[in-house]
Amino acid sequence: MAIATTIAELSEHVGQTVTLSGWLYNSRSGGKLVFLILRDGTGLCQCVIEKTDADADNFQTAKRLGQESSLIVEGEVRADERAVGGYELLVRNLRVVQDVAGYPISLKAHGPDFLMKHRHLWFRSQRQWAVMRIRATLIKAIRDYLDSRGFILIDTPIFAPSVGEEAQTLFQVDYFGDPVYLAQTGQLYVESAMMAHRKVYCFGPTFRAEKSKTRRHLTEFWMVEPEIAYADLDDVVELAEDFTYEIVQHVLRERRPELELLDRDLGKLESITKPFYRLTYSEAVELLHSDQPKALLENDRKEKGARIEELKALIRDKTARMEAQGVKQWKQDKLAGEVIEHREELTDLQTEVSNIDHHMELAANFEWGSDLGGSDETVIARLHDKPVFVTHYPRGCKAFYMKRNADDPRVVNNLDLLAPEGYGEIIGGSQREDDLDALLTRMDEDGLERGPYEWYLDLRRYGTVPHGGFGLGLERTVAWICGLKHIRETIPFARMMGRIYP
Ligand code: 4AD
Ligand code: MG
Repeated sequence: MAIATTIAELSEHVGQTVTLSGWLYNSRSGGKLVFLILRDGTGLCQCVIEKTDADADNFQTAKRLGQESSLIVEGEVRADERAVGGYELLVRNLRVVQDVAGYPISLKAHGPDFLMKHRHLWFRSQRQWAVMRIRATLIKAIRDYLDSRGFILIDTPIFAPSVGEEAQTLFQVDYFGDPVYLAQTGQLYVESAMMAHRKVYCFGPTFRAEKSKTRRHLTEFWMVEPEIAYADLDDVVELAEDFTYEIVQHVLRERRPELELLDRDLGKLESITKPFYRLTYSEAVELLHSDQPKALLENDRKEKGARIEELKALIRDKTARMEAQGVKQWKQDKLAGEVIEHREELTDLQTEVSNIDHHMELAANFEWGSDLGGSDETVIARLHDKPVFVTHYPRGCKAFYMKRNADDPRVVNNLDLLAPEGYGEIIGGSQREDDLDALLTRMDEDGLERGPYEWYLDLRRYGTVPHGGFGLGLERTVAWICGLKHIRETIPFARMMGRIYP
């Protein structure tokens, strides 16, 4: 009797006869052999079918199966270092569950728009498979970290009666005739729960009507928000630092093969140590005004310029080879795929180079008082080899609930954490304004009506204490850990401006 197993468990079955069930990822045939690359959700396995076998039917069937056909194969497990995953299956029996023709996503390259429209299928490709496994592990790392340190999970509502973070990006919903909003944050509610449980967190989807199509913004994203009592800004920074460090370590331990599959430069993650860098906002502004951003960006111009020339040459060469006489179809397809990829990289680089002057101007002309933009964050983060905390922003550019600094009333006790390699802000947090009068003054300045916030103000009326917390954006963190250019691949079904299908 064959043992039903999975590809991940093949190492336990060397020499035994097993059945695997999955989908055809890729195949090739040569002479008397057909090689089926089967994927079963746990990994890939090469299944070898020989023509000389007693059952010649298998061979004929295997040869014509289309990509993503669903199959059950039975055979003997053999260790083979050269095979994908390290094992292969010598097939004795093959059962086709569904024979598929015309699967839309071939193994050659497709543009991002096509892939996003086929997200429901794109999931099956190796890179996307790896990203989702890393995401799931990161979620577990986050929960394990907080759960094992006495934080209580508090689920906060999605329908919110008032502004949580910023008025400009609210999604309004009709709630039995009254306008309410989709939650931008669970923070105000975890502040209430913190007073009951001391250390709490929420972890769920949050919504922002971001009208810009950037590679860092989703309209629906997941955020984890710890909140702690009797804490000042330093306590929150310390928590954010240890938390970020530990969740990265957890993913490095558990998902190394997936990170390698993504070609992630692991050295960059492994070299992260505590403490992270700390800058005040004013120091960050000085850094932007120094000659460092210019040097960094001029170097980009040189390196990117060289790569652009290289890509142009590659495209010319491969196009010529593709169009040459007598080139086999599979070779043509392969070259065509590579050319698509080169063209994409070329367009990205050309856009990046054309923006360099703009980035330089933004840095040089940055004015104290405005919020750091994506471009400034990227520059600051790239000038550091570990995550950087930027603290003490001008109060005018931050949310109403942040605590005013006692020594410098122009700034608040807040923190942003910028991830290295230009990933930018992954955490935003602060000490909260715990003084009722100061909070009321600030709400008046911002033109916030008190009515919807009466419950929140009660927290300052009954047993107020210094406290604070932060929010870490899950998808931006996945993008950083995986080394992905765009946030759209970090969430199962991305919602962005102009994208809501599938
Ligand atoms: O800095 P933000 O807006 O902070 C808050 O919402 C606070 N209430 C959190 C707190 O103190 N409890 O957002 C926190 C993080 C950002 O650093 C970023 O990682 C992520 O949420 N984020 C987004 N991620 C993807 N798409 C968007 N549109 C995002 N907006 C924020
Ligand atoms: Mg922020």
